[in-house]
Amino acid sequence: MLRKRGLFRTFLLVTCVAILVLLFWGIAVGGRPGQTDREQQRGQLDETPSVRDVVADILRSADTFERELDLQRKIIQRIQTHLPRLKVLAGRTGQRSVPRPDVIPILVIACNRVTVKRCLDALLQYRPSAELNPIIVSQDCGHAETAKVIASYGDQVTFLKHPDLTDVAMEPQHGTFFQGYYKLARHYRWALNQVFKTLSHSSVVIVEDDLEVAPDFFEYFQALHPILKSDPSLWCVSAWNDNGMHGFVDAAKAELLHRSDFFPGLGWMMLRELWDEVEPKWPTAFWDDWMRRPEQRRDRACIRPEISRTFTFGEYGVSQGEFYHKYLRHMKLNSRYVPFTKLDHSYLKERYGDEFKNKVYSAPVVSYEEVKQGKLSGSGPFRLQYSNMDSFMGLAQNLGIMDDLKYGVPRAAYRGVVTFMSRGKRIYLAPPLGWTGYDSSQG
Ligand code: UD1
Ligand code: MN
Repeated sequence: MLRKRGLFRTFLLVTCVAILVLLFWGIAVGGRPGQTDREQQRGQLDETPSVRDVVADILRSADTFERELDLQRKIIQRIQTHLPRLKVLAGRTGQRSVPRPDVIPILVIACNRVTVKRCLDALLQYRPSAELNPIIVSQDCGHAETAKVIASYGDQVTFLKHPDLTDVAMEPQHGTFFQGYYKLARHYRWALNQVFKTLSHSSVVIVEDDLEVAPDFFEYFQALHPILKSDPSLWCVSAWNDNGMHGFVDAAKAELLHRSDFFPGLGWMMLRELWDEVEPKWPTAFWDDWMRRPEQRRDRACIRPEISRTFTFGEYGVSQGEFYHKYLRHMKLNSRYVPFTKLDHSYLKERYGDEFKNKVYSAPVVSYEEVKQGKLSGSGPFRLQYSNMDSFMGLAQNLGIMDDLKYGVPRAAYRGVVTFMSRGKRIYLAPPLGWTGYDSSQG
């Protein structure tokens, strides 16, 4: 628009100048129409100095116009150079254009299971844009059949192969049983360095080869990405609810999200800043439990959904199906697409802490028997109080939610509170009011 108006003005100026030059040229050379030769001669003598002045004037004006034209051209050039940035800034301040969403690559960690196909098929089926969500598959283990499956996706995925397949030196007390945990920790480090250092991405969503994703998996991460970037009290966004078994979630609230002090993993997003922070001290084994240590977590929370956006079908894995039969195979995978990018998630911001506390501690206290026998009157929510971590574990076990702790943090807990559904009613399994923090010597 600016450019068109400038050009038009220039065109007008040039035309005026041309007309004036022609007119004065005519007067100077040919004289005014209807003049006799003598009159013209006399006129030339009389008028010569003033015509020269006028021509000089016009030439000066032409010079000025040219300089102005030059200036305008430079301004246009400068605007064009900065246009993409200006658009982003305008979008950020809520004006005019919307910035392009950030590129969030998906890193698939694979090893020796050909069932990686189930994972990749779902990712490719639901991926809205190959540009915004490039899929990078990193394979460890050198398993030829699995490599063939991954290669069959051609340029729909970027296929990386972990170059180091040697055995990892282990702490003597771990025996050979834990070799898998060592190898996968080493693989994670290599693959994440590829994503952040070699491919220079600024964020990533990590998916293991035995995870199937929900239809709104990409939409979820796209929407939460700006929140993760802007809120330093968060360090990840996970697709996983540790207590997301059928019957324990509010099936009508697919859009509901929570904060969790427990690092859930299992389809999770982090930013490059976090990788820069943890990479130099990355552990040789048991990377997920290592992340759950207070030194790494540093009181930061993850966002997790009410209903999981991943489902694990890896019954036999490195941890030998420890939890698979009891919990994992009963997990509900969300099926109702939630347009997360169009919803307001401001309730997840820092002030959520106080709001959350009010919500939990204003809920009426109920007993374990009332919950277990479904004798709760009213629609809820209800508060079931535990007094210490032993009582937490007893209640959790009896109610059917996950009862283990990592460095004092129960799975899916936020500020000591674990929330879940029991017979259609919301329960807060909560410590007494005045909770001051987790005891990392527990669990
Ligand atoms: C469990 C966790 C998993 C975590 C792992 C680390 C669950 C359901 N799973 O693994 O999220 O990463 O502990 O402690 O809680 N792999 C390699 N190289 C190997 C072996 C495995 O890269 O030598 C990869 C697999 O492809 C897979 C990942 O490591 O992507 C996890 O392996 P898996 O066998 O599924 O172990 P889990 O017991 O599920
Ligand atoms: Mn697994």
